Amino acid sequence: MNQNIINARVTFRNSPIHILEQFTIKDMHGAYEKFKEESGLDECVIIQTCNRIELFGKSKSGDLEKIRKTWASLTGLEEEAFKENVKVVENQEALHHLLKLTSGLDSMVLGEEQILGQIKNSIASARESKASGQHLNALFDKAIRIGTRIRKSSGIGKGGISVGSMAVKLAEENIDELKTKRTLLIGTGEISTLVAKSLQRRGYAFDVTSRTLERSQTFCQTMGGNSVRFEEIISGFKNYDALFVATTAPYFLVTFDRITKAMKDKKNGMMILDLSNPRTVDERVATVEGVRLMNLDQIAEMVEKNIAARQNMVKTVESMIDEEVLALEASMKRLDAEPLVSDVFKNIDLLREKELQKALSMLEEKDKAKIKIIDELTKAIVEGIVSTPMNNIRKASEQGNHDMIELANRLFDYKRQKQSD
Ligand SMILES: NC(=O)c1ccc[n+]([C@@H]2O[C@H](COP(=O)([O-])OP(=O)(O)OC[C@H]3O[C@@H](n4cnc5c(N)ncnc54)[C@H](OP(=O)(O)O)[C@@H]3O)[C@@H](O)[C@H]2O)c1
Repeated sequence: MNQNIINARVTFRNSPIHILEQFTIKDMHGAYEKFKEESGLDECVIIQTCNRIELFGKSKSGDLEKIRKTWASLTGLEEEAFKENVKVVENQEALHHLLKLTSGLDSMVLGEEQILGQIKNSIASARESKASGQHLNALFDKAIRIGTRIRKSSGIGKGGISVGSMAVKLAEENIDELKTKRTLLIGTGEISTLVAKSLQRRGYAFDVTSRTLERSQTFCQTMGGNSVRFEEIISGFKNYDALFVATTAPYFLVTFDRITKAMKDKKNGMMILDLSNPRTVDERVATVEGVRLMNLDQIAEMVEKNIAARQNMVKTVESMIDEEVLALEASMKRLDAEPLVSDVFKNIDLLREKELQKALSMLEEKDKAKIKIIDELTKAIVEGIVSTPMNNIRKASEQGNHDMIELANRLFDYKRQKQSD
């Protein structure tokens, strides 16, 4: 590729949740502005989910130092943190990774659907901020289509366990007789829905709370559970033995003081599962006697075991990705030639049109049928002459033959020709 595609990422695979959350970008629009101005990238797309913060970029040079500096200035982190946690890959490896993402192979829960929606949202927001352009728009559109196809034909999403089921399983493994315990779910979003489904399926009773009572009431009508008032619950956790917390609150909802107070009046222990990123449970609650705190890190460990059991499926999807990545790379390389090819067609058509009009006025031709025949004749001649060299240029671009593209750029430089005329 004449253009470099870069992927810089920090994910749950290399970094625990308390590190991951430090890389979170808070103001996405502002971040896009900054990346456009300072990173040296011509295009970029940011994917930010609870398990990853990833940057896809396109540039001719790909100055990694500048990218790191821009990201560091957005998070306030030292550049050293980037060296330790951020993995960078380029071109074929970057395309390969994007296909792993869209097909669900790099997800914490193998084949889960959420990531596809999150990637669609990411490219939509990059488009809106005018941060992505011809290359990344085409790349993401293709990768989404390929990922969807791979999911369908491999069945990777079927039989998988959701983050919600994992969390409930984790609670079961760590609490004796969860059925007899009082369980609270904080949040009514996508992840809470998965937790509620799993609790419901296994026959556990649970309370649900959300900032607005109506929202938790509607949630409980479809997902089960008993809706409770947020203000009362949040300052009195003493009635619960298991808390599942899945919110996007930008601060701790489950604080050290609230848990210390709750545990004073409690005979049983309490298990808290924080599924949020950034975390919404203060990690210091783990030091309160009787409290067991778990978060996405423990879920990731559990998922590793799940993956081991589904190794055959992983191999099938990997080989599908290996095949697709070559075609994807070729089509991205072809894009490098497109500006030249469309320029050539445009310029030659302008010439054709000019000469056609000249000839028609010399002939003083008015007959529409005849004019149409002459017009089509000129188009056919141009098409016949130009298509072969243009297809050869596209092919050369696909094969990474930059010399040929360079030469073609010089040969078909109509602008310079016009200036010297
Ligand atoms: N989506 C995934 O694949 C995934 C996987 C693992 C973990 N996670 C993490 O799980 C968390 C929830 O994700 P989600 O996809 O379920 O999000 P979501 O669908 O957007 O739902 C967000 C929930 O957070 C609540 N909330 C937001 N701000 C709040 C505040 N200040 N105080 C109290 N509640 C607040 C919302 O309540 P209101 O209705 O009152 O706004 C809503 O119930 C996130 O931290 C995410 O990173 C997500």
